[in-house]
Amino acid sequence: MAAFYFGIATVVTTFLLLLVGGTVNPSGSSLACPDWPTCYGTFFPRMEGGILYEHGHRIMGTLVGALTVFWNVTLWVTRRPQKTHLKLAAAALAMVILQGVLGGITVIYKLPAIVSTSHLGLSMIFFLFISYLTWRLYPPHTDAQGRVLDGVRVPQPLRTPAVVALGAVYGQILLGAVVRHTKSGRACLNDWPLCTDGVLWPAWGPAQVHMVHRIFGVVAFVIVLWASAKTFSAARRFNKPVAGTAAFIAPVLCTIQVALGVLTVHTFIGVPEAVAHLGGGALLLLNCFALHLGLSPESIGASDGVVVDAVGPPLSGVGATT
Ligand code: HEM
Repeated sequence: MAAFYFGIATVVTTFLLLLVGGTVNPSGSSLACPDWPTCYGTFFPRMEGGILYEHGHRIMGTLVGALTVFWNVTLWVTRRPQKTHLKLAAAALAMVILQGVLGGITVIYKLPAIVSTSHLGLSMIFFLFISYLTWRLYPPHTDAQGRVLDGVRVPQPLRTPAVVALGAVYGQILLGAVVRHTKSGRACLNDWPLCTDGVLWPAWGPAQVHMVHRIFGVVAFVIVLWASAKTFSAARRFNKPVAGTAAFIAPVLCTIQVALGVLTVHTFIGVPEAVAHLGGGALLLLNCFALHLGLSPESIGASDGVVVDAVGPPLSGVGATT
């Protein structure tokens, strides 16, 4: 159970790290520390002005890195650790190191858009990845004989909408990063729903980048609604409360996310609005992941229990995957 709680702590701290990271660019602090990994040659600069955001983000990143190391250690010293868990935790550690290096490259090469966008893309994958490992570490509910109560795997076609929604939201997050890092956030001024001069497709490049994010935002919204409806009915049919709850929350989160996007435009990229928009994107992504995981058998991470295909014979025993 200690490894599970470590997982929760790492997931929560990573979410806070995402929020702190989200303050750096809109507050104009991206190059407040011109060097890396130190800031003006020291690990302990005066935390004022942009340094507060930029170096604060680095300190939070170091904390998440340290938590990931301790998490690995906790798993290694656990009695009868599962090999899969050890591998997943080691992969998480590799990701957090790569993420730090990408952050460093961003500073050293003065914010190339491709590197900054990859930095955000990897941060979201890391967030999902550690959430997945944490979910696997949660002991499944069992009966008196130790059999997993919910060992049913919902057929793949019914889980596909959740995967499509996950992909659409992740794509939309990457598009958001492109908007931010190509400085296209203010390209339509604060006009909404259309771009400046009431056009849907402006002639100017940065405004086009901006509008792609808005238009795909609507597409992603529709996909999330569709996936929620499909997942909700599958959850009811196979009695999957986690998927049912996630399906109920997804449309709410998606509506809030679009509203935050509008507010971000309306305030000419206000820092609190842009940070909330980033955090909302991360939560929506996690929720779409829960749509899919919630339709999986509870015994996916267990060392015992049988996984049963909902429309077929038992598939496998120990730790079968989705
Ligand atoms: C499902 C819908 C949406 C998702 C998941 C989403 C996600 C995101 C994310 C994660 C970012 C930040 C990227 C970064 O920090 O590098 C972002 C940026 C942005 N989004 Fe969205 N977005 C959505 C819809 C919208 C809509 C509908 C609008 C406008 C009406 C909008 C306007 C913006 C703007 C202007 C930025 C750039 C902020 C900046 O320059 O700092 N978004 N989006």
